[in-house]
Parts: sequence; C-alpha cells; structure tokens
Amino acid sequence: MAESMKGLHRTHRCAELGVSNVGEKVTVMGWVQKSRNKGGIIFVDLRDRSGILQIIFEGKDIDDDGFAKAEKLRSEFVIAVTGVVESRGEAANANMATGEIELRADDLRILSESDTPPFPIEENSKTKEEMRLKYRYLDLRRPDVQSNLMLRSRIAAITRQFLADEGFLEIETPILNKSTPEGARDYLVPSRVHPGQFYALPQSPQLFKQLLMVSGYDRYYQIAKCFRDEDLRADRQPEFTQIDMELSFVDVDDVIDVNERLIKKIFKETLDLDVSLPIQRITYAEAMDRFGSDKPDTRFGMELQNVTEIVKGCGFGVFTGAIENGGSVRGINARGCGSMPRKKIDALVQFAKDFGAKGLAYIQLLDDGNVKSSFAKFMTDDEMSALISAMDGEAGDLLLFAADKDKVVFDVLGNLRVHLAEQLEIIDKNVFNFLWVTEFPLFEWSEEQDRFTAMHHPFTMPMEEDIQYLDTDPGRVRAKAYDIVLNGTELGGGSVRIHQDDIQEKMFEKLGFTKEEAQSQFGFLLTAFKYGVPPHAGLAYGFDRLVMLIAGEDNIRNVIAFPKVKDASCLMCEAPDTVAKEQLDELGIEITEEE
Ligand code: AMO
Ligand code: AMP
Repeated sequence: MAESMKGLHRTHRCAELGVSNVGEKVTVMGWVQKSRNKGGIIFVDLRDRSGILQIIFEGKDIDDDGFAKAEKLRSEFVIAVTGVVESRGEAANANMATGEIELRADDLRILSESDTPPFPIEENSKTKEEMRLKYRYLDLRRPDVQSNLMLRSRIAAITRQFLADEGFLEIETPILNKSTPEGARDYLVPSRVHPGQFYALPQSPQLFKQLLMVSGYDRYYQIAKCFRDEDLRADRQPEFTQIDMELSFVDVDDVIDVNERLIKKIFKETLDLDVSLPIQRITYAEAMDRFGSDKPDTRFGMELQNVTEIVKGCGFGVFTGAIENGGSVRGINARGCGSMPRKKIDALVQFAKDFGAKGLAYIQLLDDGNVKSSFAKFMTDDEMSALISAMDGEAGDLLLFAADKDKVVFDVLGNLRVHLAEQLEIIDKNVFNFLWVTEFPLFEWSEEQDRFTAMHHPFTMPMEEDIQYLDTDPGRVRAKAYDIVLNGTELGGGSVRIHQDDIQEKMFEKLGFTKEEAQSQFGFLLTAFKYGVPPHAGLAYGFDRLVMLIAGEDNIRNVIAFPKVKDASCLMCEAPDTVAKEQLDELGIEITEEE
C-alpha cells in the first residue's frame, strides 16, 4: 500500500542533521537501507542522496498502526518519517556521519514498497557490472556512484560560473546536422521529409562555434553532447560530453591562459589541489622523442633513448635493416628488472607485438654482472658496451629495444613504458601532472587512404613559419594545435583556426578535396568567411574524462549516469533496437538481411 505525501513536508535530508538539531521535530524521506526488529524496538537506517540516518521506532512514541507499519519495512521501501532528533550519547557510531544522533519516530508513512532488489545497494559493490548496468537506476542509488555524479554536477557548475565571469556566452548548437569531418564515423539519422537523406549527429560543435565567431559572439562555450561511432575503450563512449569553447581575436597563449585558470579553479574547488601555473609545455616532437606518446604520463621517468647512431654500423641485421629503411632504434631502461623471469620477458615481447612490433630485443644486466641478451651473438663486445652505456645500463637493469619505422617504435615503446610502470607500481596515484603538448603536425599520413589527413581537423591553422612547406613538404608543417594532457590522458585539445580563405583552400586541396567537394561539404562555412571573419581559436575538454580523473575512477562509465557498454548498447533500455515496419516505411528504409 502506497501512502500519499498529503500534508507532509520534508524538512531535511538525512545527513544534513547533526547534534545541533537535537530536540527538533523533523521530517525526513528516503529509502530503507536496512531494518532490524529487536522486539519492541525497530531500528531503521534511512538513506537519501546525502547519506544515512538511524531511525528508532518504539511503541511508546508511535501509535499501534505506525508501529505495525514499521514492522513491515524492508530494504528499499520509500518512507517518510517524522520525529524528534535525539543524541545517541554513549551509543554514538563513529563510522557514520550522523552517528551521534538518531531520529525517534512518532509518525511513519510508507510512500512505496519495493521488491527485493537484484543486488544490495551498497558502497564498493561486488556485483558484476553487467548486472548493475541492467538495473542502472538501482546502481545509481549507491553512494559511490552518487558522489561521482554530484562531483560531475559541481564541476559543470564551477565551469559555467568561471566562463560566465570571463565573458563567455553559453550558446546551444544543433544536434541534427550535416556531417562534420573529425575523423570518427558519424551517427546518422534518416530524414522522413527528405527520403534518402540523412542528418549526422555532431562529433563536436566545431563548425557552429566557428560560425558564432563570424557572427560576433566573441567568446562562446557549451557543455555539449557529442557523438562518435568509434571503438569504445575505458575512456571513450559513443556519446560523450565536451566542455567546448571558442574565442575571437586570440592566439595560442590567450587560449592557454584562460584554460589554465579554469583548470586551477576546478582542481582547487574539487580536490583542494593547487595546480601551479604556468602548466609545462612541450612540443609534439619532444613528447614523441622522450615518451613515444603525444599524451605522455610524466609521473615517472623511463624515457626513450634514441640509440640509432650507436647501433648504425653494428652486426645485428634487425637494427641496421630498420635504420636502412628510414627507421630508428630506440630503447627504454626498466631499472631493477634485470632478473625478470623469461616468461615475463616473453609477455613483454608479445605486448610489443600487439602494438605492431616485429619483435622486442632485450639485454638483461644481471645482478652478478653477467649479461643475457636476445641479440648479443650478433654484436661485438665493444658494440654491446657502447649500447649499454648509451642506455645508462647498470647491473640489475633490463634494456628493451624496438627497431622499425619511427611511428611503430614510438607506439611500441610509448605503450610498453606505461605498461611496465603499471606493472612495477611506480606511478604515484596522488600526483596530478598536467602538460600542454603543442606544435602538432598539421597532417598525418594515412596508409589506408594513401593520402594526408588532418591530424586535428581541416580548420586548424599551420604555424606561420611552416606555411612555406605546405606545397613542397606537407609532412613537416606544424600546426597551431595544442592538447592538454593529465597523467597520460588526453583531457582536451584545440587549435587556432584558419581565417584566411587562401590557406583554407590550400588545406582542402592538400587533404584531397576537390573545390566542388569542399564547397558541397563546407560551403556554408567558406561563404560565411567571406563576410568578415575574426581570427579565432578554441578548445574542447572531454568532460567525462575530466570528471573521471578528478573522481579517481579508471573508467568513464563510472561518471556517466546512463553509459553504454563496449558494443555501444545500453544494457538497461536495450538500445539500439529494431523498429516497427511502419516507421521504416515512413522513412523509405528497407532492411536487407545480412548474409
Ligand atoms: P577532439 O576530437 O580532440 O577535439 O575532442 C576533444 C576532447 O573530447 C574528448 N573525447 C572523448 N571523450 C569520450 N569519449 C569519446 N569518444 C571522445 N572523443 C573525444 C577527449 C578530447 O580531447 N572540435 C575539437 C576541439 C577544438 O578544436 O576546439 C574536438 O572535438 O578528451
Ligand atoms: P631474431 O633474429 O628474429 O630471432 O631476433 C632476435 C631478437 O631481436 C629477438 O629478441 C627478437 O624479438 C628481436 N627483434 C626482432 N625484430 C625486432 C625489431 N623490429 N625490433 C626490436 N627487436 C626485434
């Protein structure tokens, strides 16, 4: 039997009450965490989003009808309780925020009953994630998920406040769009009114925010939903949220300045962490050279060493072959791992192969001074000692080498470095290392498409000093693009945009668009730029990633209310799903059975 709220008014949330409320008559409402009947006295832990409060029902305080209802209470019943706050005195529970008080009930209403939930609603749940996501509305009752979502809400509020104070306007942009080329696959929505035509959901508000600059809004931001049909990982969802911004009449330093202050404010107000400004900047080239990654985790060393010059003339064909092919040989020194068992080294070799390596050459510098190596037989003693000393190798170290095209070597060693650091537990989880990575290449060569693609997007401005190479050597042109990296995660990225039509046209040409193709895809932007476009630049953060890192979570699902799983489905509502034939007919869509 569900009773009504008639005449009742909640006065407090459970954990808002404390010793200062002793003696007050209050009304609280929430879910029964647990109920214990001690015969004549019933204790109930009542839970709402603020926390838990102990309620005590005793026949002397409440009428028979009320006491009979209290006897019926089970986990997850929703109730309203009125009573007087009293001190627990000697019986205080130090493990509970409200442990010094309890509520002596004189009135109880059961607002709704509950079936036995499929898993207990508790912190640090041991229930499998699939089960929790199927009943996500129950999972969301758990205090750890609730605190993540409250944190998320706070970060959004801090961001809005900060950006408003800085003169940014919050402007919404459309969800039903023409496709924006940002590298990922689009989600498409068929049009009923225009049979055979499709909207694309935005991968980001990129073009619209640039148009808002053309329109004179000067500083725009939006906490924007974005959609990308790409393979999911721990830090990727098919729909995710960006803190997206664009500014007019600015260059790289202006964007970095306002964002450093935003980051400082967010981390101060959430974690009481003082981010020291300015945040360190390194170029893309340096990041790759030292860490093999454009989003380096700088909480630990184990930097890459380029030993190409050292091994250039050595007798090991794997090394010299890679160098002759225009590649390089680089290594990392896993300190103290010299006596790693063979099985574990083999696992590292396999790890490297998974990232495209043909192998992983190693030297074990044993504690007793002996040397074990997968390729020593191809080298002279002098060549070996030159290599070991170039790697600063000492007894007890394990030296690992990859030889290949730079791209492969960086990918292999960059990932191996992080993998080893995790395995060796040398990463200090309490450290927050921010880093700007700047001067990204403008283009990236795509083997698949046999052409250059834009590393960031086609509207990114080349560095002025490199514009001269656009025609002759596009691969060496650096962009006015920057990423903000935190502990090895790409938090956000942006760039200065092209506002000169000759450069934009050249850019499209280099990306392999004909004039007609460029016009048909981005004609509205190109036309808009003919009517007075201010120089502009911007940046977008992955909001979910930001919250994840502040919450100390290792998966963005834990900071999203209703996330999707690896195959991009929702276990709760079972989206995506088939639709009625009439709906398809209306859209002029026919489904062909897969072979
Ligand atoms: P970019 O594509 O780098 O830039 O995206 C910006 C940030 O969004 C986050 N992100 C994601 N988060 C969760 N799931 C995903 N699938 C996902 N994809 C990206 C990342 C990333 O750094 N319009 C440009 C920004 C600009 O130039 O102003 C853009 O979208 O944290
Ligand atoms: P092999 O002569 O092919 O048995 O290789 C000798 C050693 O070199 C083995 O430890 C291989 O894993 C390693 N190796 C093979 N190819 C590469 C490569 N491209 N880079 C680094 N090491 C390699």
